[in-house]
Amino acid sequence: MAIWMLLMNKAMAGSFMPEQGTQIAKQVDNLYGFLLVVSFISCAILIGGMIYFVLKYKRKSAHDKTAYITHDTRLEVLWSAIPLIIFLVVFAWGWVLYHDMRKMPENALEIMVMGRQWSWTAEYKNGVKSSEIVVPVGKDVKLILGSEDVIHSFFVPSFRIKQDAVPGRYTSLWFNATKLGEFHVFCTEYCGTSHAAMITRLKVVTQEEFDKWLIEESEVGLLPIAERGAKYFQTRACASCHNVDNPAAKIGPSLYQRWGKEAHLSNGTTVPFDENYVRESMMLPQAQLAAGFSAPSPMPSYQGQLSESELAAIIEYIKGLN
Ligand code: CUA
Repeated sequence: MAIWMLLMNKAMAGSFMPEQGTQIAKQVDNLYGFLLVVSFISCAILIGGMIYFVLKYKRKSAHDKTAYITHDTRLEVLWSAIPLIIFLVVFAWGWVLYHDMRKMPENALEIMVMGRQWSWTAEYKNGVKSSEIVVPVGKDVKLILGSEDVIHSFFVPSFRIKQDAVPGRYTSLWFNATKLGEFHVFCTEYCGTSHAAMITRLKVVTQEEFDKWLIEESEVGLLPIAERGAKYFQTRACASCHNVDNPAAKIGPSLYQRWGKEAHLSNGTTVPFDENYVRESMMLPQAQLAAGFSAPSPMPSYQGQLSESELAAIIEYIKGLN
């Protein structure tokens, strides 16, 4: 009983499910709650009825005879009609909700989101590229999803939206974020070694912050080379796996004070940690594996993702970390 109360309290507080970041999320949860309650009641009737009849009609003596019952029209109509009505309600409810989720709003803010093994890139109308998806609150946002290699799936638990990103075609989804904050984005289609690491953040900010962010990001090209590199390091997902201010490693090796030192490789050799080593590590991460890593390396290849000038900017930034 205490456990049940605790569970109910948790459910009430909203921590039973991920927080609701959109209006659709609330509607999905309502339907889910309805299904859950109906399932509990059906289960109780079924199991309870079974136990009741097992006890009631237990054979008590050798002379007991089973009653000969052919049918009961009233009961049969009842147990057919009630589930039918419930199923139709669930069907209609789900239909309307699904229709709302799939009907793309007009005048939505469109963002291109490209998936690859193993990262996401959002591209905005003004050319800004980012590994984090930044959107304004209270505005219809449409994501056009694509994939550069295999099937991925874009999932924002707090928004209750999920859509496959399929190579060779575009898919789309939309949402209207009602809450400011940061939300997790997961890939929910198994897509290879680092599928579990194919995560990013969706940031919901005010319209003013969003406009400011878009302008700032579009002006990154005007910054000095190392500062530009620092920006790319954040926005192209490097920072999600590599530390820069702390020798402790995340998934990938820390880049804190590495420049000019020796890089230890998993085959026991060492090479200088210089421009060419960093370049190869980013473009052909499987060529030379850092010590402690075995093939295939969890580092995704940035071949085709970064231009030569972006790559050079990131290298300048890493140099400056000493
Ligand atoms: Cu991409 Cu799993």
